[in-house]
Amino acid sequence: MAPVITCIEDLRKMAKRRVPRMFYDYADSGSWTESTYRSNEAAFQKIKFHQRVAVNMENRSLETTMIGEKVHMPVAIAPTGLTGMQHADGEILAARAAEKFGVPFTLSTMSICSIEDVAEHTSRPFWFQLYVMKDKPFVEKLINRAKAARCSALVITLDLQILGQRHKDLKNGLSSPPKPTPRNLMNLATKPYWCWNMLHTKRRYFGNIVGHVTGVDDMSSLSSWTSQQFDPALSWDDVAWIKDKWGGKIILKGIMEPEDARLAVKSGADALIVSNHGGRQLDGALPTIEALPSIVDAVGNDNIEIFLDSGVRSGQDVIRAVAMGARGVFIGRAFLYGLGAMGEAGVTKALEIIYNEADITMAFCGLRNIKDVNRNILVPGTYLVV
Ligand SMILES: Cc1cc2nc3c(=O)[nH]c(=O)nc-3n(C[C@H](O)[C@H](O)[C@H](O)COP(=O)(O)O)c2cc1C
Repeated sequence: MAPVITCIEDLRKMAKRRVPRMFYDYADSGSWTESTYRSNEAAFQKIKFHQRVAVNMENRSLETTMIGEKVHMPVAIAPTGLTGMQHADGEILAARAAEKFGVPFTLSTMSICSIEDVAEHTSRPFWFQLYVMKDKPFVEKLINRAKAARCSALVITLDLQILGQRHKDLKNGLSSPPKPTPRNLMNLATKPYWCWNMLHTKRRYFGNIVGHVTGVDDMSSLSSWTSQQFDPALSWDDVAWIKDKWGGKIILKGIMEPEDARLAVKSGADALIVSNHGGRQLDGALPTIEALPSIVDAVGNDNIEIFLDSGVRSGQDVIRAVAMGARGVFIGRAFLYGLGAMGEAGVTKALEIIYNEADITMAFCGLRNIKDVNRNILVPGTYLVV
């Protein structure tokens, strides 16, 4: 009998069974002690709702906009590297699921399927996430490729110019595709669903990079190129330079402090994402739901939309974040687990689960429209105030 999937945790368990250890661990881990990774989720749980009864709960809607784009619910797919290793053709499958569901999909610079490939297999414009590399002609080329693919926003990630260490990736010898060591081969032998799909695709390398940089044609030249390329000297001047080259909507990812939020407003960005990279970078950073109030307080009345990611695992979390002042959230692992578990159908399942949970939670709180959700539905003392 097919397993009954009722929550994101069910998808996580299924992904763990189906995805090779190296890639499952890559998704399901944080940096160093993983304290921020764990506290992102735990902090959401502390926030409690006021339950209302005998109020009309008919005709509900989670529909809203994110940077002016109509969305079926205030949830976007976060950019994640190596998504095509959780499941063959992963980025295309996730982008298709997002398009059908009516939520934005963000493609990572470090994706397996290329910008052009995803554009070819979708019809709704997606968002492109840019890592700022030292090789500025390459960055400019990426911007132009995203433009040519009709991407409707550029997400600039500001918190990964240096890498937080993830112990599991080092121990597993993470590589794409996996090296055929005896340990890896033994593990792969237990993952027939993954292997079968992977054997039927040619997309196994970083599609945005291999073949687009002189001298980078295979995996070994690629790893040495990327390890030297993330630019630790990234500054707000680079943001201005990218904004000028791009000329479209900009979302700044990785803002955790009011001072940086004010600089984001000054840069002219359309939105910012309160993000600690899902607990993968600064171990010991605040959970994002606890960092959000001071950012809303600092720039909530300015001309910028505030999004949040890190630790969102349910529709209840979406409602909590919106109630605390986020215009919308991004989900990383929640969609990756769905993808690893069941491909496109798994991403759709993850979105359906989150939608239904958010819809019913909003109704239990006595509201029918996501636009009416605010802090009044939360129990004071269970969330952080500025
Ligand atoms: C496996 C994995 C790969 C990621 N790769 C990227 C990336 O390439 N670019 C980026 O800006 N963020 C990346 N992130 C961070 C996500 O965009 C997002 O901030 C994070 O996943 C949110 O936390 P959550 O997974 O708890 O939802 C990655 C996250 C994961 C889990």
